[in-house]
Amino acid sequence: MTVSQHPAQPTDPRTVSELAEAVHAGLPTTIADLSSLVRIPSVSWEAFDPSHVAASADAVARLVEETGLFDEVRVSRAPIGSTGLTGQPAVLARREARDGKKTVLLYAHHDVQPQGDDADWDTPPFEPTLKGERLYGRGASDDKAGVMTHVAALRAVRDVIGDDLGVGVALFIEGEEEFGSRSFADFLAQHRDELEADVIVVADSDNWSTTVPAITVGLRGNVTFRLTVRTLSHASHSGMLGGAVPDAMLAMVKLLATLHDDEGSVAVPGLLSRDADHPEQTEEKLREESGLLEGVRPIGRGPLLSRVWSQPSLTVTGIDAPSVANASNTLAPEVSVRISARIAPGQTADSAFEAIEAHLRAAAPFGAHLAIDDVDKGDPFLVDASGPAIADVTVAMTEAWGTAPVQTGIGGSIPFIADLVKTFPEAEILVTGVEDPDTRAHSPNESQHLGVLQRAILSEAILIARLDAGR
Ligand code: BES
Ligand code: MN
Ligand code: MN
Repeated sequence: MTVSQHPAQPTDPRTVSELAEAVHAGLPTTIADLSSLVRIPSVSWEAFDPSHVAASADAVARLVEETGLFDEVRVSRAPIGSTGLTGQPAVLARREARDGKKTVLLYAHHDVQPQGDDADWDTPPFEPTLKGERLYGRGASDDKAGVMTHVAALRAVRDVIGDDLGVGVALFIEGEEEFGSRSFADFLAQHRDELEADVIVVADSDNWSTTVPAITVGLRGNVTFRLTVRTLSHASHSGMLGGAVPDAMLAMVKLLATLHDDEGSVAVPGLLSRDADHPEQTEEKLREESGLLEGVRPIGRGPLLSRVWSQPSLTVTGIDAPSVANASNTLAPEVSVRISARIAPGQTADSAFEAIEAHLRAAAPFGAHLAIDDVDKGDPFLVDASGPAIADVTVAMTEAWGTAPVQTGIGGSIPFIADLVKTFPEAEILVTGVEDPDTRAHSPNESQHLGVLQRAILSEAILIARLDAGR
């Protein structure tokens, strides 16, 4: 953990209490608006109806416009390279800075992951449901609560500071983060001037717990692709030829088994780990957060948090093969899987992909034919935590939560951050968020803790007020 080199003064206590009051008073509206967003099934994946993502972009644009703070609010799409395809709609807004003050860019995404099987949910995925302190629904946390954090923080700042607000504010609410931000590079090129900022707040990450905030300073990268194994030109009766020719499933299973050693550590030469210090995490906490079944052991080596923050991982996230219900006695000629790899900070996604591909080709059993396609790559990222904005957000979080933030890594990926930093090398990146260890983002029964949401909004409102007070 790095200690900031810019110790910052506390915020004017009157400003803090006025902002806290405004955030508190606005909370019912914030939760109602969040609920309306959750009702829109804005899954950005190819196979899903894009009209929902369009509807959620429009709904977000309306909320942003209603803050009354922006010179311009629009919904915009960019092409995806030279593919001829167009990206999902993003919401873009800007208020120019005055009096030589800084500009802050607020990022979140309004698209969500697929809900999976409705039967795995205790409540309908797109019917926001309040139980205790948590609001359940797909996107209730990741990342529609991030969207609402920006909107609600801006409302509070407007109510307390009003027209005197001099800090510039740019807002970018993406519509395809969960699909790998494929038009992001083009969007950035097209809208460079509108996105330009001194400080960038990415509200799309985790907190240490529901009572301790976090600033994310390390993110793993990702490499995902489809792997197809072929051994036969057609299917055959498994009794007539089984035992003499390899079916594609046998070849695939043997190939996948080479990816990990007996302890479950990734065994692909050339996939690197990062050497770093990690806070202690007990096995008990890991078991509790993951729902690890009795008798099932964790995998990997080294401190538990180093395994998720600083070592690579490889997961088979999908398989195309004959289903059990359709399992006739045949040798399958072809089997495909989707592989999702996480890359440790310090290695590029390109070099990680090369290592994985070389390993797979060398390990293909029985001379099986391999095909790799539909590749998506995102680089890992380490935040430079030495700047003044980190000091500001540290103070803001401490004042909003009543306890100082922990600087953490996450095992997940926010790949566009690396692109953003390439375009705006001078900007300071603050990765904040609304998730907590029980959020279950991407999974059934995803939920947002409303106390965390309130504290995240207040933290951001205080941060904006501090940037407004500075130069
Ligand atoms: N909000 C997550 C990133 C994240 C994951 C933050 C875990 C904190 C903890 C983001 O929406 C996400 O899911 N990213 C994808 C990126 C992928 C689609 C390229 C991921 O990590 O799978
Ligand atoms: Mn997210
Ligand atoms: Mn996500």
